[in-house]
Amino acid sequence: MLRASLKRLKEKNDLLICEKEVDPKYELGAVLKYFQNTRPILFNRIKGSNIPIIGGMFGNRKLYYEMIDTTHEERIHAFINAIANPMEPKVIPNGPIKENIIRRNIDLPRMFPIPTFHDEDSAPFITSGIVAFKDPDTGNVYTAVRRLQVNGGNNINVLIASPMMTELFEKFEAQNKPLEIAVILGYDYEFLLASQVSSELYGVDKYKIDSALRGEPLELVKCETIDLEVPAYAEIVLEGVMVPNKRIEEGPFGELMGYYGGKAPHPVMEVKAVLHRNNPILQVAFPCREEHLANGLMREVELYSALDKQVDVNDVNVTVGGGYRFHGVASINKKTEGDGKTAILAALGSNKDLKHVVIVDNDVDIFDSKEVEGIIATRVQGSKDIVIIEGGIGSGLDPSHFLRGVTDKVGIDATKPLGEDGKRFEKAKMPGYENINIKEYFPSI
Ligand SMILES: Cc1cc2nc3c(=O)[nH]c(=O)nc-3n(C[C@H](O)[C@H](O)[C@H](O)COP(=O)(O)O)c2cc1C
Repeated sequence: MLRASLKRLKEKNDLLICEKEVDPKYELGAVLKYFQNTRPILFNRIKGSNIPIIGGMFGNRKLYYEMIDTTHEERIHAFINAIANPMEPKVIPNGPIKENIIRRNIDLPRMFPIPTFHDEDSAPFITSGIVAFKDPDTGNVYTAVRRLQVNGGNNINVLIASPMMTELFEKFEAQNKPLEIAVILGYDYEFLLASQVSSELYGVDKYKIDSALRGEPLELVKCETIDLEVPAYAEIVLEGVMVPNKRIEEGPFGELMGYYGGKAPHPVMEVKAVLHRNNPILQVAFPCREEHLANGLMREVELYSALDKQVDVNDVNVTVGGGYRFHGVASINKKTEGDGKTAILAALGSNKDLKHVVIVDNDVDIFDSKEVEGIIATRVQGSKDIVIIEGGIGSGLDPSHFLRGVTDKVGIDATKPLGEDGKRFEKAKMPGYENINIKEYFPSI
């Protein structure tokens, strides 16, 4: 879990350690923002607390691949393999998470240095808490990152946007029954990635996906006050219930794409027990966009699979600039003239959040946004290559459209024509460029 990741990051020289005291209110977020969440940072001295904070772990694509022992080329098939072949986790009798068990006088803001990131945020927020609960019908464990507004004492808001969790909570609510949940903090790369697998699409036990991704059973211990297992090596676990028929005002909160999300009544969790390791480390994720990379990696599986049914897809990028959800770029091996438009249809139908998609040929590096822009500039004629679908379902997190959740969808077919007509799009080649070793010319570089 987290400590094994930190050890590995340190050995790889990928962990920045901050020994200067930082204020969890704004200052910590400002330091994380400086690196755009691409550098993991361990803050050892936090104002007003002796608990260190780790942040920025999950925003760097190359590092993410390394930490889960995969490569860019293998990633999509590795993730599909884990979803298709889940592995049983293992319950063990005890684990470090139970080194401290607190059941009384729970006061979360006093116990943990929970950061505040933006000036209009309504309260400190736990931004990387993985909410876990068991589906009573299937026994499957469901995990997802949800933002958690810390209201004081043992009371936090849980913002649930996913249909699966909303439906279950509402079912419990109708019977006036609480829903038992845990919030898990201090996890690793596989655990976050598994949580981002869409329940709607696959309906799977995410602990089993996690085990398949890590190639060995995730070790779990039983909770103290609820019927659920949690990772034995997590740093902090909050056990409790989502209270039926109770709502508390949540927000505003600076969130996806850097906008403030609105204020609205949302369900409430009452924490019954806090478990933590000795000398726990609090995990945070900057609430903007880079930390959603894990979410984007799973969206790439969806986009790739949707395209794969219709065309010969080469690679896909659900881009960081589009918040890892609004923008997709796909390269295809074009076989017929209809492939570009067909790929647009498949892509825009793959996920409601995908708003703009660009389809290019396999000679384009789709992870180089400058190159993609150049291709749009030179291989697109608006009247025939741009498809606009008005008034589809979109993401409620996009402030640009008039009716929340309703959006136009745009596809750009930037593929070359086949045959003779395509010849004029061939790029000028410079013989020997690939073999230049710049160090031979400038040894100091
Ligand atoms: C760092 C991070 C923060 C997230 N915050 C929220 C959130 O506050 N509310 C939400 O509904 N989804 C949030 N998500 C997305 C969900 O975690 C994701 O949609 C979910 O895990 C997908 O699984 P599901 O289909 O089982 O809901 C966040 C994702 C990440 C990576």
